Amino acid sequence: MAKKLFNIAWEEFSALPLVEKTPYLMQPDGSPYHTLFAQQFDSVLLDKLAALANEIRAIAKTRIGAEYLRQQVTHKRAMLYFSQPSSRTFLSFVSAGQILGVPVGEVRDTSISSEFKGESREDSVRTFSSYFDLIIMRTPEKGLAEHMAWVISNSDRPIPIINAGSGKDQHPTQALLDIYTLLRSFDRGGGLHDKTVVFCGDLLRGRTVRSLSYLLTNYPRIRQIFVAPDPLQIDTDVLDILREKGVEFVQTDNFRSVIPEADAVYMTRMQDEWDNYKNESAAIDTSHFKFGLEELALLPPRAIIMHPLPRRDEIAVAIDDDPRAMYWRQMRNGMWIRTALIAMTFGCERRIHDYYCHNN
Ligand code: NCD
Repeated sequence: MAKKLFNIAWEEFSALPLVEKTPYLMQPDGSPYHTLFAQQFDSVLLDKLAALANEIRAIAKTRIGAEYLRQQVTHKRAMLYFSQPSSRTFLSFVSAGQILGVPVGEVRDTSISSEFKGESREDSVRTFSSYFDLIIMRTPEKGLAEHMAWVISNSDRPIPIINAGSGKDQHPTQALLDIYTLLRSFDRGGGLHDKTVVFCGDLLRGRTVRSLSYLLTNYPRIRQIFVAPDPLQIDTDVLDILREKGVEFVQTDNFRSVIPEADAVYMTRMQDEWDNYKNESAAIDTSHFKFGLEELALLPPRAIIMHPLPRRDEIAVAIDDDPRAMYWRQMRNGMWIRTALIAMTFGCERRIHDYYCHNN
C-alpha cells in the first residue's frame, strides 16, 4: 500500500468539492485508502467489493478456508475509535478484523482516554497511529474523520482511516452493506437498475439514507422516493445532487400510496439524539411512517424491506418472518462487505481471489 501524503493545506482541502477530494483518498490501483464518504465509490469499485465479499463468505464456510483468511492481515492492527454508541458497526468491524486475522484495539469512552485530560483529537489520532495500522472511527462530528485523515496523511506515520459514521452527515460503510444487500437481492431480478427505492422515516438526520442515496446514483434509472413527515424530509443538498445527476425522485408524506411501487423499502428510526431542545421529535406525528402488516399487504411480492437497525417500532416484529424482510441478512452482509473493504485497503484481494478460484 502506497504512502499517501496530502500535499495541500487543510483549509484548501476541506473546501474542495467531494469529487476533487476523492483522488487524495484512493490507492493507485483504484482501491480506497481512506474511506470517508460514499461519493468516492463508483459502480466498478462497488462491484469489485461485492464480488470480493462473496468470495470471502464462500471461503469462510470451511475450516481450512477460514484459516486461510485469518492469515491474510496478521501484520496489521486496527483501532476502533467510537465516541458515539454502536452495536452493529462496531461488532461487524471487530468480526471483519477477526476474519482476516487483524488484532483490534478500541477506545469507546473518551472519558477514560487522554482526551478527557485535554488532549486534542489530532494528538489522540497520532497516538493511535503510533500503535495501529488502521483507524476505524465513529464520531458525532461531521467532517472529523476527514480532518483526521488529512492530519494522519501529513504525519510521519500515515495510516488509513475508515469513517464508521460521522454525525448526521455520512455513514459510507453502511451504504456499502446496503448496496451489497440490494445487489444480492436483485441479482436474479436482472440487477440493480430500473428500480424504485422508497426511504421512510427521519430522512433529515439519518446519515445512512444520505450515504445510500448518493451511492444509488451510480446505478442506472434508480428512482428514489422520500417519505417523511415534513419537518424530517431529506435535506436539499441531497436533492441537489440527485437533480445534478438527473435522478428521478419524489417527496411525499403518503407512505401507503407509494409502497406498491417499491422494489425496496428502506425504513429508518427517529434520530432524536439530534434534537436541539428537549423532546422536539416527540411532537412530530410519525404514526403514518411505520411498516406493519397492513403495509406488508401493499408490498409487491419481490420487493424487499431494509433497515440499518436499530429499530424502535417503525417495523413491526410481526413481519420479521416474511421472506421480504431483509434487515437481519442485511446486517450480516455488513460483516462481509467490511471484511472485503479491509482486505482491499490492505491490498490482499488478489490472493483471496486466487484462493477462491483454486478452491471453489
Ligand atoms: C445507524 C447509524 O448509526 O447511523 N446505525 C447503524 O450503524 N446501523 C442507524 C441508526 O442509528 O439509526
